[in-house]
Amino acid sequence: MDFAERYGPMAVICGGSEGVGSAYAMELASRGLDVALVARKVGPLEETAQRVRDAFPEREVLARSVDLSAPDAAAQVLDLTGNREVGLLVYNAGASARTGDFVDGDLEFAQGLAAVNVSTMMALVHALGGTMKKRGRGGIVVMSSGAYLCGNPGLAVYSGSKAFSTMFCEALWHELRPHGVHVLSHVLGMTDTPANARNYGMGGMGDRPEDIVEQGLAALDKGPVLYAGGDQMAKALGAMDRADAVEQMYAAGAAFRE
Ligand SMILES: NC(=O)c1ccc[n+]([C@@H]2O[C@H](COP(=O)([O-])OP(=O)(O)OC[C@H]3O[C@@H](n4cnc5c(N)ncnc54)[C@H](OP(=O)(O)O)[C@@H]3O)[C@@H](O)[C@H]2O)c1
Repeated sequence: MDFAERYGPMAVICGGSEGVGSAYAMELASRGLDVALVARKVGPLEETAQRVRDAFPEREVLARSVDLSAPDAAAQVLDLTGNREVGLLVYNAGASARTGDFVDGDLEFAQGLAAVNVSTMMALVHALGGTMKKRGRGGIVVMSSGAYLCGNPGLAVYSGSKAFSTMFCEALWHELRPHGVHVLSHVLGMTDTPANARNYGMGGMGDRPEDIVEQGLAALDKGPVLYAGGDQMAKALGAMDRADAVEQMYAAGAAFRE
């Protein structure tokens, strides 16, 4: 089976307007897939959609502004693709735009982040993974973060929801593997995305989104977890006393708190 047969005809990319998501859109279209892009801001979303259409006019490109933290977000995404066959789900959105101590912060913001990383992701995997399983082929890539390896003071909901995401993907990888559906939790380190520049002032730093896409697609049929920067940090933190691990993570996050 070639790539488009295995993962096509359409890919849904949640958080598909910029960074890793837009790099996925271009790469998947170049590999023969139609793409459905979802993000909140209409401007960047339409720009990315048009860039893909211009480069690959034979591909169908759908785009819709959806806030993935909304209770009906998964339904809105499924409505966008209608009765088209979705063979690949790339769930990219999920960074935290804020840091700070949990109990001092805005609960609504925290619940929204948890909805993006947990409930909406889960609902889409349930719906799209279910049809992939019946079809006997497909793929699911969910972006996680090294923050999942250990509780991150100041990013408690982020690290907790990414831990959910990676554990969920590991289990799904095993459940769906016998049915020809590949699941990958792609654990990113610092990545040069517009959101990382906006949220943390760290533009121009870290992995290139195009390299993350290449890595992710090369590992998709292997799974369940791929560490963008190698698994040294996972091994080191996993071997540590938990209190020491949290202290180390806190120290490493000093730059985010400045
Ligand atoms: N960049 C890094 O250094 C880094 C490190 C580790 C892990 N990661 C992970 O990699 C993924 C991508 O990160 P990123 O830095 O590019 O930031 P991001 O904000 O998670 O992703 C950007 C994309 O997601 C969309 N998005 C964000 N929140 C959304 C929402 N509530 N509803 C719909 N779309 C939403 C953005 O468009 P709109 O803003 O227009 O909605 C944009 O298309 C995330 O899961 C993140 O946790 C990133």
